[in-house]
Amino acid sequence: MSESSSTPDIITTLLTRRSIRKFTAEPVAPEIVDVLEQAAQRAPSSQYLNDWSAIRVEDSDLKHRVAEIGRQHYIAEAPLLYVFVIDERRNAMIARRRGIGIEDGSFTLTTSYRFTQAQNDATLALHAMDTAANAFGLGTVVLGSILNDVAGLIEALRLPRYTYPVLGLAIGHADQRPALKPRLPREAQFFTDHYPQDDETLLDGYIDDFDDAVHHYYDLRNADRPVDALSQQIATAAVSTDVLGKGVSQPAKDQGFSLDR
Ligand SMILES: Cc1cc2nc3c(=O)[nH]c(=O)nc-3n(C[C@H](O)[C@H](O)[C@H](O)COP(=O)(O)O)c2cc1C
Repeated sequence: MSESSSTPDIITTLLTRRSIRKFTAEPVAPEIVDVLEQAAQRAPSSQYLNDWSAIRVEDSDLKHRVAEIGRQHYIAEAPLLYVFVIDERRNAMIARRRGIGIEDGSFTLTTSYRFTQAQNDATLALHAMDTAANAFGLGTVVLGSILNDVAGLIEALRLPRYTYPVLGLAIGHADQRPALKPRLPREAQFFTDHYPQDDETLLDGYIDDFDDAVHHYYDLRNADRPVDALSQQIATAAVSTDVLGKGVSQPAKDQGFSLDR
């Protein structure tokens, strides 16, 4: 394979992507939707288990229900909305056709290992679709908020046993142009050979400047007030009680996954 010194378009796409939370009403052309779905399917799959699926949410009432669960109005306004799910149901049916007893103790498709394995696959597939959409000049935002009410989402999408929602992806033509959100300096996130051993110097040389940069980032979501410095955001999240009781383990167990094996 030959290398070229010019920057491939896909790299420019990756280095300029940002989350979009306001879309025009223009639909995404069906031939582009085809390619986006193919790109997601082309993502790597651990052990080739292909244990994810995606629900394309088209029904307007259903979109509003998902937006209500996510408490984010732009979810309902996205022309194209997907919910990626862990899917061991299809594989369970395949195994059953081969004479494997799904309810037997030897059935391992519903163990916590498979759960995280499938979650990885689903996330990689979603990211491939996200990148492809951005390469077409579309805007996207990943949606973890749809997990605010996992049981409600499972019911709304009629997700059967051995499936579980992972993340949403909203796609459309951007109706805003947010600034690129700062990222940590590379040396703060990439290390050679070993993780730095000295906690006292881990943040040296960059954290104050980075806090300042994040504080000055103009976030269209809260245009009337500056974004908190990263340190403040992390400190707030570190003691946030929002996550308490949000535990996904009971709904996951209800869906047939055993998270304690
Ligand atoms: C797993 C995951 C879940 C996210 N969930 C939401 C969400 O529910 N709503 C939203 O508006 N943005 C969501 N985001 C987008 C992040 O807020 C965004 O990527 C981050 O602030 C960096 O901004 P940027 O994407 O514009 O660079 C999510 C991102 C990830 C990776």
